[in-house]
Amino acid sequence: MEKARFQEAAQWIRNSGKTTAFTGAGISVESGIPPFRGENGLWNKYDPATFDISYFLKNTRHSWEVMRDIFYDLFGQAGPNAAHYALAELENRGLLNSVITQNVDNLHTDAGSKTVYEFHGSLKKLVCLECSELIPFRREILETLPPRCLKCDGVLKPNAVFFGEGIPEHAYSNALGEAESSELFILIGTIGEVAPANMIPRMAKGYGARIIEINISKSSYTDSVTDIFLQGKATEMMEGIMAALD
Ligand code: APR
Repeated sequence: MEKARFQEAAQWIRNSGKTTAFTGAGISVESGIPPFRGENGLWNKYDPATFDISYFLKNTRHSWEVMRDIFYDLFGQAGPNAAHYALAELENRGLLNSVITQNVDNLHTDAGSKTVYEFHGSLKKLVCLECSELIPFRREILETLPPRCLKCDGVLKPNAVFFGEGIPEHAYSNALGEAESSELFILIGTIGEVAPANMIPRMAKGYGARIIEINISKSSYTDSVTDIFLQGKATEMMEGIMAALD
């Protein structure tokens, strides 16, 4: 990637009155978490139907066994990478207002980002299907599946959004607010195929925001809403932007 592209992106970030990052699974791939789609995507190995709320309610134990293997064992060891840290640094410098993420891996918060809207919830908390109690995830919870609520013995579910469930109100309304009021969106590692999350960047564009996109390959945004396309890995592209900012 030639330097001029990073310089241009850095200039847009410096001059923007309000900037929002919008991230997907691609930003966590270099942390060791596979994406859902594309090369070695999780949906090539696991049936997404396992993560449909109706399947979970009927096959709770099996669904939990798959989630333990994929999310808690595999994701469990993952830590933030240079792209997550770069976004936290931009926020520290007052150059980034918030991160809207579709990811449930908590890596933005782990990297130090303060304003993070988790559009698909998070694995770091479990919710009781009976009394709605929110419980922080602890490894010992997985010793008996499905895990049960200590208060009412109800079945616990990861507080991530399953297919067929609604988007958390707080994240949804804040994401809409960012789309309406941001001058710049930085899209990182998202193919843009899953609604309603995938509408947010399009709404931002409609409200006049400019779009910088980082992805290793074209997405559904690249030829429609993207203004600057930085084709490459999230860590390398973010490092290029940070170097151009300094
Ligand atoms: N750097 C940048 N982008 C990358 C990298 C990388 N190292 N590796 C992969 N990508 C890109 C892929 O090219 C693809 O566009 O990340 C994107 C991953 O696409 P998906 O796996 O579909 O992830 P995402 O768009 O976040 O999916 C949205 O779908 O299954 C649901 O709830 C799930 O939140 C998820 C939603």
